Amino acid sequence: MAARSMEELVSLCKRRGFIFPGSELYGGLQGTYDYGPLGVELKNNLKAAWWRSNVYERDDIEGLDAAILTHRLVLRHSGHESTFSDPMVDCRNCKSRWRADHIAGRCPRCGSSDLTEPRPFNLMFKTTVGPVADEESFAYLRPETAQGIFINFKNVLDATSRRLPFGIAQIGKAFRNEITPRNFIFRVRELEQMEIEFFVLPGEDEVWHRRWVGERLRWWQAQGLAADNLVAQPQSTADLAHYSKATVDLLYRFPHGLEELEGIANRTDFDLGSHSRFQAELSLTARVLPNEDSTARLAVQDLASGQWAVPFVIEPSAGVDRGVLALLTEAYAQEQLPGGQQRTVLRLRPHLAPIKLAVIPLARNRPELVDRARAVCADLRALGLGRVQLEDGGNIGKAYRRHDEIGTPYCVTIDFDTLGIGDQPELKDTVTVRDRDTMEQVRIPLSELASWLPGRFAAPRLPDPEQVSG
Ligand code: GAP
Repeated sequence: MAARSMEELVSLCKRRGFIFPGSELYGGLQGTYDYGPLGVELKNNLKAAWWRSNVYERDDIEGLDAAILTHRLVLRHSGHESTFSDPMVDCRNCKSRWRADHIAGRCPRCGSSDLTEPRPFNLMFKTTVGPVADEESFAYLRPETAQGIFINFKNVLDATSRRLPFGIAQIGKAFRNEITPRNFIFRVRELEQMEIEFFVLPGEDEVWHRRWVGERLRWWQAQGLAADNLVAQPQSTADLAHYSKATVDLLYRFPHGLEELEGIANRTDFDLGSHSRFQAELSLTARVLPNEDSTARLAVQDLASGQWAVPFVIEPSAGVDRGVLALLTEAYAQEQLPGGQQRTVLRLRPHLAPIKLAVIPLARNRPELVDRARAVCADLRALGLGRVQLEDGGNIGKAYRRHDEIGTPYCVTIDFDTLGIGDQPELKDTVTVRDRDTMEQVRIPLSELASWLPGRFAAPRLPDPEQVSG
């Protein structure tokens, strides 16, 4: 069973070093979190799995890493300056501020219904660039990674000679001055996104939109999220972002409710069209597109007909932090063991687990065991599976409990038999491998570990489209 409450997850994350409140030493900075030693591994593994599926395992997507600091004109012409806002109300009684659509007519702090009329609050962070701070010298911290992709569309196209359909993928930070950050890492002010802008011929957009919804549902399932906990829900017209013709949200059953994990939008030609129009106004036509027929658009030419077209864009946009929260929610379990004991176990898929293997010498006061464990560690690290930890704290029961709780798929124990000085000399150069989920232990020759382990850590292939619900 998945985690029932956010408190369970927050407590595990703090205690074991997954996630800490940002700037905690100085009382905290609301809406920011720091990923600790295990959190950074989990997050990196999630991002690597996304990159692998979308960039390495496809023929039609290129990668990009654009700047976070963004020219204000980019975000003016993308529509964010005028429309990227949430409705905000003030409580006249206790002076607190709330997102109007998150409260039910009363101030959540003091209960007063004496609230101001909702007014738009722009969510973008500004910062000054260069030594002179005046009205003209500011830039924005990007509120979505997408704009970096749109403004590099021609650069990537020219550098790679791509034809439609093709996509550009990017993972990176984005910043939103959320009025009420809440629910742990679900709604934060400094977030990370994994976004694809997939460029298609106008007219083929709706087919590609449906295809990407199915693709993304399958991908999240391959990361371990149960089909029952995922729902694909089209947004109502009233909820659509200013650039979207249709958006399907992938909702996940988080501890605080069924909420958005990823959005897959049909952004039409809104962004490329809008940036193109401004380029034309700037008379940069010749630089953007050498062909006069192209009318300065960020467009592609159909070589057969000679026609220029501004591509339509399908955008699967997932939150990394929300992905981490979903994985933790799904993987978390409290189990009753046969002896009456309880254990907490994090059933993360092995390719996502922060620590892949723990190597445990049976007794810490026997240097020959610790030395051998250290050597086995070095051999296992050479397999390149990810983080392999030497666990020489002493108590093997405690080590198993700890590694169950942080999701380590296998513990490898070095005992006297491994050294050939135990009761069973025939077990020399073998180790015990304990499975996190079944708690079963098998004895394996060290010489076979290198072939036994890697397949168990491979990211699963996406399930067949027919098997996916939603
Ligand atoms: N480029 C499209 C875009 O940014 P969005 O629905 O605003 O669309 C995409 O954001 C994803 O980013 C969301 O589905 C969510 O996972 C994540 N996200 C958005 N705002 C967030 C926040 N304040 N904290 C954490 N994740 C957030």
